[in-house]
Amino acid sequence: MCGIVAYVGEREAYPILIKGLKRLEYRGYDSAGVALLGTRINLYKKQGKVSELEKYAEGKETASTIGIGHTRWATHGAPNDVNAHPHTSGDSNLALIHNGIIENYDSLKKELINRGHQFSSETDTEVLIHLIEEVKKIEKCSLLTAVQLALKEVIGAYAIVILSKEDPDTLIVAKKSSPLVIGVGEGEFYVASDATPIIEYTKNVLYLEDEDIAVLTKGEKIQLTNIKNQQKTANTIELEMKIEAIEKGGYEHFMLKEIYEQPTSIRNSMLGRLNTVNGEVVMGGIEEYEHKFMNAKRIIFVACGTSWHAGLVGEYMIESLARIPVEVEYASEFRYRNPIINSDDIVIAISQSGETADTLAALEIAKEKGALIYGICNVVGSSIARATDAGSYTHAGPEIGVASTKAFTAQVTILALMALTLAKKKGSISESRYRELALELNNIPNIVEKVLETNVAVEYISDIYKDAKNFLYLGRGINFPVALEGALKLKEISYIHAEGYPAAEMKHGPIALIDADMPVVAIATKKNSYEKVVSNIQEVKARNGKIIAVVTEGDTAVKEIADHVIEIPDVDDFFDPLITVIPLQLLSYHIAVMRGCNVDQPRNLAKSVTVE
Ligand code: F6R
Repeated sequence: MCGIVAYVGEREAYPILIKGLKRLEYRGYDSAGVALLGTRINLYKKQGKVSELEKYAEGKETASTIGIGHTRWATHGAPNDVNAHPHTSGDSNLALIHNGIIENYDSLKKELINRGHQFSSETDTEVLIHLIEEVKKIEKCSLLTAVQLALKEVIGAYAIVILSKEDPDTLIVAKKSSPLVIGVGEGEFYVASDATPIIEYTKNVLYLEDEDIAVLTKGEKIQLTNIKNQQKTANTIELEMKIEAIEKGGYEHFMLKEIYEQPTSIRNSMLGRLNTVNGEVVMGGIEEYEHKFMNAKRIIFVACGTSWHAGLVGEYMIESLARIPVEVEYASEFRYRNPIINSDDIVIAISQSGETADTLAALEIAKEKGALIYGICNVVGSSIARATDAGSYTHAGPEIGVASTKAFTAQVTILALMALTLAKKKGSISESRYRELALELNNIPNIVEKVLETNVAVEYISDIYKDAKNFLYLGRGINFPVALEGALKLKEISYIHAEGYPAAEMKHGPIALIDADMPVVAIATKKNSYEKVVSNIQEVKARNGKIIAVVTEGDTAVKEIADHVIEIPDVDDFFDPLITVIPLQLLSYHIAVMRGCNVDQPRNLAKSVTVE
C-alpha cells in the first residue's frame, strides 16, 4: 500500500527509481512521483501509472545521484498530480515520500497553518514535511534531530525518506508500522518498501525496527538511531530472493505466471518439512512450542481476504484431524471487539505480505493477553513474521499479482502440514492414515500440474460467461472456503459481482437470484456431500440457472445436468481445496482478460494493505 523507493550513491538515480517504482507498482498505482536533487529539488509527479510519470519527465532535468520516488494508493486526498508524492517543505529545501497514515494530521495541520504554513495538497504527508521544517527552524537543529522531534509528535504509521537540498549526499529514513528495507551496496544505498527493487543491485539488506531512523550518506556507513536518539547497530542480513522470481518470465501477466507456479510453490512449502520417503512431517515452529500446542485449548486464526479463506480451510483440517477447537476471525473485527483470549490459546496470523495492518494489530492484542502468537507468512522478514513468537514461512516466492493465488495454496499446504503434525502428536490419527495423507500431500504438486491442463476448457467457458453481471459460487465442507475464494477472485479482477455460499444455504435466500442469466459455479467433486451438492445443482437447473461444475474425473451424475464441467483428478477430501481452487483462479483470470481489465493491478486495490 504505497510504494517507496530511494537511492544515494554514484549511479544515476532516476532510472533506478523508475525501475523500482515499476516493481513496487502493485502496492498502489493511483499516481507516482520522484524528487531528484540537481541545482534545486526537481519534482515530477503525475496521476496514473509510473509510465505516465515517465512520459511527463521525458526531456526534463533528471540527472542526479540522489533521489526519492513514490507510487501511491490514496488514503487522504484524491488521486491527482497535487496529492501525489513526494511532498516538499514550504521553503522547498526538503522533499519527503511516505507510506502509512498520520492519524493526527488534522490537528498538526491547523497548528502549522497558525504558524503561517501554506499547504497545496490534501495529504497527511505534506503536513509531516512541514512539521519537520518547522521543528528544524524553531530548534535550529540538524535535520536528523528535527526528524526525531517531529516524529515524536506524530500518531500513526509511517515509512519515510527525506531528501534535503542542504545535504546533497544524504537521505534520512524512518519507519513505524509500515515496511521499509535498506539495501547496502558499495558506498551506495537503496531504500524501498520491500526488497523487490533492491535485489538486482545488492543482497545485503537491513530491515528497520519501529521508530528507527537511519542516516544514509554516500560512501559512509549507516548511522542508525531511533526517535529517542539512542544509537543502534546496523545488522544487515543476506536476501535469499532471486531476480527471476520477480520477472514475468514470458507470461502475459504476473497472475497467470503465479497460477502456473503452484506445483513448484506448493513443493517449496513442503520442502524440509515433509520427508518424501517415510512421510514424516516436521514443523520447526511447532516443535519449538510443542508443550503450548499440546495444551492449547483453542487455536484462533486471524487474517484478511484470501488468507482468511485459507484459515477456514485450516479450521476444517485441524478440527477434523487434530481435534483442537479452531476459530477463524477477520483480523479487522477481532481487534476491535475486546476478544476473550487466554494464555492457553494460540493465535495464528495468516498473511501473504506479513504487513497487513489489521492482522498485525490483532496479533499484538493476542500477545498482550498472553497467547502464543504464530505466523504463517510468505514475505521473509515482514512485520508479522518478526512480531510472532514462532512461525512457518510459506516459501511461495514473491507474489506480485494483486490477486492472491499461489499464496493461498501455499498457506493451505502449511495448514495441512500443521494439521498432520498436531494430529500425530495428539494421537488423534492412526499411523497408517497419517502416512497415507502425508504421502498424498507430497503428490499434490503433480496433481496440480494436471489440473492446470484444464486451462483451455476454462478459457472456453470464460468466453461464454464473460459478460455476466453476477456469479454465484457454491461449495460444501472444505470446499465452501474455495467457493468464497473463487467469488473474491472474480470480483476483484473482473469487477463482476460474485458471491460464495455454502451450497445448502442457497435455498435460504440466494436461490431467489437464480434465472437464465445467473451462472453458478458449483464445486461438486466426489466427496462426502457429493449427493447433496448434486441436489443443489438440480435446484439451480430447475430455475434455468447455468451451471459450471468442477467435478471429479469420471463423474457422470453432474455431467448429465451441468452446462459445463471441468474435470479434475480425485484426491483425499482434505486436499481438495488445493486443486479445486485452480480452475476458479483460471476462470477469473480469463474473464478479466476478456473484459479488458488490468489483471495484475485491479482498480482501487493494493497488494499490501498497511492501513486499517
Ligand atoms: C485477494 C487478496 C487480499 C489479501 C488480503 C490479505 O486476492 O489478495 O484479499 O488476501 O488483503 O493480505 P495478506 O495475506 O498479505 O495479509
